[in-house]
Amino acid sequence: MKFFIDTGNLAQIKEANELGILDGVTTNPSLMAKEGIKGQEAVFNHYKTICEMVDGDISAEVISTEFNGIIEEGKKLAAIHPNIVVKVPMIKDGVKAIKWFTDNGIRTNCTLVFSAGQAILAAKAGATYVSPFIGRIDDSTWDGVDLIAQISNIYSIQGFKTEILAASIRSALHIVKCAEAGADVCTCPLDSILGLLKHPLTDIGLAKFLEDAKKTA
Ligand code: G3P
Repeated sequence: MKFFIDTGNLAQIKEANELGILDGVTTNPSLMAKEGIKGQEAVFNHYKTICEMVDGDISAEVISTEFNGIIEEGKKLAAIHPNIVVKVPMIKDGVKAIKWFTDNGIRTNCTLVFSAGQAILAAKAGATYVSPFIGRIDDSTWDGVDLIAQISNIYSIQGFKTEILAASIRSALHIVKCAEAGADVCTCPLDSILGLLKHPLTDIGLAKFLEDAKKTA
C-alpha cells in the first residue's frame, strides 16, 4: 500500500517525506485555504513547490463544476508538473471530464466518493485513483472501511485498474484497517502516520535495553 500525506502544509510534507516512506501528496481546496494560500497563481505555485519536494503523485483539485471549466482547469493543473494528478469531484460533469482526461493522457483522482456505485462509475471513466472518504462515512454512522472492502472486491472481480485511495483518514487504526480491506493507497494526516509508530511496549523495551547497555559500556 502506498502512503500519501493529505495536507497543504509544507513543514508536514517535509517531515513525512524525511521518513522515507512517502509516495505522494493529496490536497483539496479546504486544505489549501487552511494554509492561507490565496489566488490561482499562489495556489499553482504551491502545487509546484510540493511537486519539487516529493517525488510522487500530487493531487491538485479543480474548483470548476461544469465540463468545459473542469477540462480547462485540469489542463492547466496538469501542465504544472508531470506528477500532477487532476482531482475531479464525483458529479455528472466530473465523470464526463475524467473520461476526457483519460482519453487525453491526463491522470485523475475522482474525489468525494461515498458509495460503491460512484466507485464503479469512476473506474468506468478510467480514473487513475478513486477516493472514498472513510472518516466522513464513519461520521454518518456507516463504516467507511467496509466501503473500501466492497470497492476492492468489485474492482478485483471486474478487473478495474483504478487504484483505491482511502481518504478522510482520521487515525492510525484507519490506516491498518484500510490496508487490510485492500486499499492501494492511504492518504493520511501526519499525526495518523506518526501514530503507527506508537506502542508502549516499544518504549518500555527500549528504555530497558538502553539501561542494560550502560552495564556493557
Ligand atoms: O482526503 C480528503 C480529506 O482531506 C478529507 O478529510 O477529515 O476533512 O474528512 P476530512
